[in-house]
Amino acid sequence: MSLERSVEALRYLELFSNLDASGIMSTTVHALHPEDRVAAARILMREKSISGVPIVDADFRLVGLISVSKIIEALADGRLADSVDSVMVRDVISLHAHDTFETILSCFQRFKFGRFPVVEEDGKLVGMITDTDVLSAIIRSFYSVYVHDQRRTMTLGSFSALSKEFENSADFVYDISCIGLENAGEGSARLKVFLQTKGFGESVVRRASVCAYEAEMNVCIHAGGQGSLRAIARNGEIIVRVEDEGPGIENIDLAMKEGWSTATDAIREMGFGAGMGLANIRRFSDHLVIISGKDKPTKLEMIFLAGKE
Ligand SMILES: Nc1ncnc2c1ncn2[C@@H]1O[C@H](COP(=O)(O)OP(=O)(O)OP(=O)(O)O)[C@@H](O)[C@H]1O
Ligand SMILES: [Mg+2]
Repeated sequence: MSLERSVEALRYLELFSNLDASGIMSTTVHALHPEDRVAAARILMREKSISGVPIVDADFRLVGLISVSKIIEALADGRLADSVDSVMVRDVISLHAHDTFETILSCFQRFKFGRFPVVEEDGKLVGMITDTDVLSAIIRSFYSVYVHDQRRTMTLGSFSALSKEFENSADFVYDISCIGLENAGEGSARLKVFLQTKGFGESVVRRASVCAYEAEMNVCIHAGGQGSLRAIARNGEIIVRVEDEGPGIENIDLAMKEGWSTATDAIREMGFGAGMGLANIRRFSDHLVIISGKDKPTKLEMIFLAGKE
């Protein structure tokens, strides 16, 4: 790989820096025991459309792996009735639950296998990562990007993670201007009514208005109370954009964590500041982009797909 290409690759790796093996792996694992027959592995692979079966002991510790090529060999030798133990690979290359995205990628690159078992410290099998799992994780990450302004320029260049639609117009506009939390939440209440009149289903309207409420409250509590709440609702999707004028979120990864809050005691006494707002937004939205930074305005865009329910 040329130096230029590796620099480019590093930029993208930064985008995935909060992904580890445990967040990528499939946890529905089909495993067999060493005493099972090779024929059982063949059936399992066919039924589940998988290309390799991990072999575990009675405590679910990984002891081997049987791949399609091993099955083919066994077929040719007429050994389908033999135990898995006699044909499985024993020195399996596996990953640990906390391995980084970079480690996982280099594993695929170095060993050229289509799948890797994921084990805990004691060797217990907890999941499998296939190339499809990696691809899905990449796609999911692109759907939830939390970027500091500086990191955005570094990783995304001129590509904008925000949708272009708002440049022309919006279907719903509400100017957030709240002093002392008096009318806090009014914008999202109005958005809810607007979405209902547009004919969106109950469930997607609930998700969108709960998230809009959390974002609006954050503007009122953490960003001086001035901002805007806009929405575009068409073609089965609702895009909600909430923007304020700062002071911004210094560390978005931290702010996304459940229970992390900078709310004052006075705010907590009013029942806010549990540090759950952004975590809920992430949970209930289908696509989330947050762009912020120290002393920057915060832009938060959420997309809700009506067809998902
Ligand atoms: N628009 C914003 N401007 C500046 N800081 C923000 C903004 N939104 C969130 N934050 C920061 O991120 C932290 C986490 O936000 P989050 O909404 O998850 O929790 P919270 O608002 O503190 O508590 P809760 O939402 O449970 O009432 C906030 O405490 C604040 O420091
Ligand atoms: Mg909040």
